[in-house]
Amino acid sequence: MRCSFGPRNGAVFTISPVNDTNLTSPHASSADAPTKFSAEPPLGKLAPSGSSAEREAPSVGAPYLKTIKSFVRRAGRITTGQSKAFEDLGEQFLLTYQPDTNLIDTINLIAPQAINTSTIAKNNTKKASFTSNPSNPVENPVVFEIGFGMGEATAHIAALLPETRFIACEVHQPGVGALLKRIGESLETEHPIDNIRIISHDAVEVIDHMLPLASLDGVHIFFPDPWHKKRHNKRRLIQAPLIAKLAARLKVGAYIHCATDWQAYAEQILEVLSAEPLLKNRADPVKDAELAGYSQKPHYRPLTKFENRGIKLGHGVWDVVFERV
Ligand SMILES: C[S@@+](CC[C@H](N)C(=O)[O-])C[C@H]1O[C@@H](n2cnc3c(N)ncnc32)[C@H](O)[C@@H]1O
Repeated sequence: MRCSFGPRNGAVFTISPVNDTNLTSPHASSADAPTKFSAEPPLGKLAPSGSSAEREAPSVGAPYLKTIKSFVRRAGRITTGQSKAFEDLGEQFLLTYQPDTNLIDTINLIAPQAINTSTIAKNNTKKASFTSNPSNPVENPVVFEIGFGMGEATAHIAALLPETRFIACEVHQPGVGALLKRIGESLETEHPIDNIRIISHDAVEVIDHMLPLASLDGVHIFFPDPWHKKRHNKRRLIQAPLIAKLAARLKVGAYIHCATDWQAYAEQILEVLSAEPLLKNRADPVKDAELAGYSQKPHYRPLTKFENRGIKLGHGVWDVVFERV
């Protein structure tokens, strides 16, 4: 059975309980899709020449490993509230995946008046605005989040840091609906959250085809799927090639913050980030000495249900924060 729903502008979102790998969750046991090779996709347009980050681009014509996806399209029920949020807010808060379009230019064009005032409660005098400095939006930092789940942490952090613009990326449609709903609920309050825009697409493709080099002030990856079975480890999001791409898209001094409750993945994350020459660890070697390279939980990251679940299972939680040199 397929389930379709869509916003007023006619775009239709579809969820399907069946996916091409026959996996139902990152913990499922079916065989992975076979690895395929194909021609190199166009990358160049967004990369300024002479950048140290150019090393990430494979040579033209070279075969490249077709990406093994870090997610499966899980079956998920869209609630009535989420569906309504798609209808009411999708047009305003969803960004379209469009290869070879500069996503930062796109969000720089979003002005405060773009907010649909009909979604703001009549008694709310505080207007939502995507940028606190509309005449110079570039001054508002941009944080890219990969895999926000149901958007709990995203909404919390966006409310806490109203001057930061968040591009939140998630493939799970009920999660996208849930974050839209949270945004909608906030618009009814004195503290509307308007500093999030959602892109519902594979983050790896968004990075490759829409994010310019040295354009981000931060990256958040909280509780990425652990893919804990050995034969599924290759699906883990945080691996050297992705981190090289992300590092290249950070501005100098910008940060990447990962958190996980899966120890083996924490070790892999620390190892991969430590090996990336464009990054250095922000953990304080003296103050955080007992954390052995991991960081204290930054103040802005709330406890999510994934974290609580991990804690209940007796897992630790590891924060890894590096910055672009
Ligand atoms: C375990 S959940 C964690 C959710 C959330 N960050 C939290 O802490 O509650 C991981 C999420 O990452 C999403 N995800 C995995 N790979 C992705 C990708 N390549 N692009 C976008 N989302 C992805 C999954 O759909 C899933 O919702």
